[in-house]
Amino acid sequence: MPKEKIPLGAFPFIYPMPTVILGSEVDGKPAFITVSFIGIVQQSPPMVSVSLVNNHLTNKGIKQNQTFSINIPHTKMLAKTDFVGMNSGAIINKSSLFEVFYGKLENAPMIKEAPLNLECKLVEVLHPGDQTELFIGEIIQTYSSKKYLNKGYPDIRKLDPILFSITSKDYYKTGRKIGAAWKTGLRISSSRYRNK
Ligand SMILES: Cc1cc2nc3c(=O)[nH]c(=O)nc-3n(C[C@H](O)[C@H](O)[C@H](O)COP(=O)(O)O)c2cc1C
Repeated sequence: MPKEKIPLGAFPFIYPMPTVILGSEVDGKPAFITVSFIGIVQQSPPMVSVSLVNNHLTNKGIKQNQTFSINIPHTKMLAKTDFVGMNSGAIINKSSLFEVFYGKLENAPMIKEAPLNLECKLVEVLHPGDQTELFIGEIIQTYSSKKYLNKGYPDIRKLDPILFSITSKDYYKTGRKIGAAWKTGLRISSSRYRNK
């Protein structure tokens, strides 16, 4: 191990963490939960994974209806996003916090003011540990508005998503563009590193 490296312990430090609001319906009413432990499973068919602690109210809703939505909030929605992550629907009625709309699935409420919405059908529930349920969902449709798009696709600067630092418990904004994917790497000569 290099001298300057300090073992910090085993933690899921993936930086930066996204901050999304998952929508579901619990007993026929919209329910929302703030989630950072979310990832892309694969591109085709498009699937996401969401890791939720067992005892959240949301888990019940996802299992009841086999559907959920992922809503990407912009920084102007920060207070509401944090509020949703601080209060369980078992105690606080979060159902009227947002104006919702529905797509093809009848019980995956999506947040109108969120720049980007992913409508998901539950594929599988995994139990990686005693306290966690990992929900795998297939994205059946995505929704946005013209003002958030560039050439028909979501533009990160227009979306203005919220980033999360779990260790300091702070929220951040995205910074400036620093390169182009599959282009910046061309600065390194591949012939120099080719397998012999
Ligand atoms: C920034 C942030 C990120 C969070 N990420 C997760 C997460 O990935 N998984 C999880 O189970 N809870 C997460 N939480 C906690 C839940 O959002 C919170 O416990 C919520 O009140 C549960 O709501 P419910 O009981 O209505 O489902 C997060 C909270 C915050 C503030």
